[in-house]
Amino acid sequence: MLQKYYRTAIAVFFIVFILMGISKTYAQDSVKLALTPPMGWNSWNTFKCDINENLIKEVADAMVTSGMKDAGYQYVVIDDCWQVSRDSLGNIQADPKKFPSGIKALADYIHSKGLKFGIYSDAGLKTCQGRPGSRGYEFQDARQYAKWGVDYLKYDWCYHGMQNAQASYALMAMALRKTGRPIVFSICEWGTNKPWRWGAKVGGNLWRTTEDILNCWDCRTDWGGMGFVHILDAQDSLAKYAGPGHWNDPDMLEVGNSGLTVPESRAHFSLWCILAAPLMAGNDIRHMSEPIKNILTNKEVIAVDQDSLGKQGRKVKDLGDLEVWAKELKDGSRAVVLFNRSKQPAKISVNWQEIGLNKSATARVRDLWRKKELGQFKNGFAATVPSHDVVMIRVWPKK
Ligand code: GLA
Repeated sequence: MLQKYYRTAIAVFFIVFILMGISKTYAQDSVKLALTPPMGWNSWNTFKCDINENLIKEVADAMVTSGMKDAGYQYVVIDDCWQVSRDSLGNIQADPKKFPSGIKALADYIHSKGLKFGIYSDAGLKTCQGRPGSRGYEFQDARQYAKWGVDYLKYDWCYHGMQNAQASYALMAMALRKTGRPIVFSICEWGTNKPWRWGAKVGGNLWRTTEDILNCWDCRTDWGGMGFVHILDAQDSLAKYAGPGHWNDPDMLEVGNSGLTVPESRAHFSLWCILAAPLMAGNDIRHMSEPIKNILTNKEVIAVDQDSLGKQGRKVKDLGDLEVWAKELKDGSRAVVLFNRSKQPAKISVNWQEIGLNKSATARVRDLWRKKELGQFKNGFAATVPSHDVVMIRVWPKK
């Protein structure tokens, strides 16, 4: 009897050990897919369900001609509403009216531009817009995506019923790895089950930390949607969970959308870069004003987001409406954002000790939006920041 018990215990131990090994290998492989936060464009924030293959092709064209591709944007992602049904064999079907050439042709077009292609599904029975979800079809869908040439999957959490989040995301992560095609896995369960604790372990490359971002500075809806400053306020305590291959995702950008002024868009973009957030543009990049294009393609600001150290920045000073955020970078420098949330211009200061440098250090300071050297500063730096705007600097301590 006892012998039988020991045999069973040993067998269970080995099975768990092997599964842990497999899942560790998946997680290790997936890390390489997003050593820096993914950059691209997603259809949802501007177009919702009003998407079709011509729009997506035009967006891919604009990604190249606007200079966004050159600035590092890679993924063109179609969000909800591309799918309508399953055929008799369970194969997922794209909307034949909106995507008459099929998803493979669209992926080929995007690839021909030197870009990558992303798609959307849901871990539950239906997507948030009531289209077929992937529950029960995980391996079949993953195989289909791989055949089409999908490089990125955003995986939502509507209609999940009693499903366990970690297990549901682990299952799709495994299905994706099984295809043999490298596919970035974007976990979108809105932070409900603290995915920062398990997202990387199950092979996720990024995980949403909140409900949906809205096209506004600080609005809120009943169901949890919120403007970017509210999302920002939920990020600081999560910094330790981000790193190369696995990122906190404070949601797609509203930069360039009608609810934000140009300074507010600049503030939003600067702070997402300090957070090492995935940079998924959510505006109509076919028709961007010059100031918005300059925000989205500022390479010195993007370099802060994409820095290879992969350390998410933190809020180092909070004086109510006046905040200082800083991010440590690979070369020992710091990126610093002086953020004015108030309705008046305000002077904001930072001393070097607050950003982890020697108190009495002298440092070279460069303004990343004005693209201008500001000189050498001892002890710290201060600037007058317009309302709802930022001053963003990079600080190199003298060696
Ligand atoms: C959820 C997600 C959004 C978007 C929509 C699509 O709300 O959080 O980002 O994908 O679904 O229906």
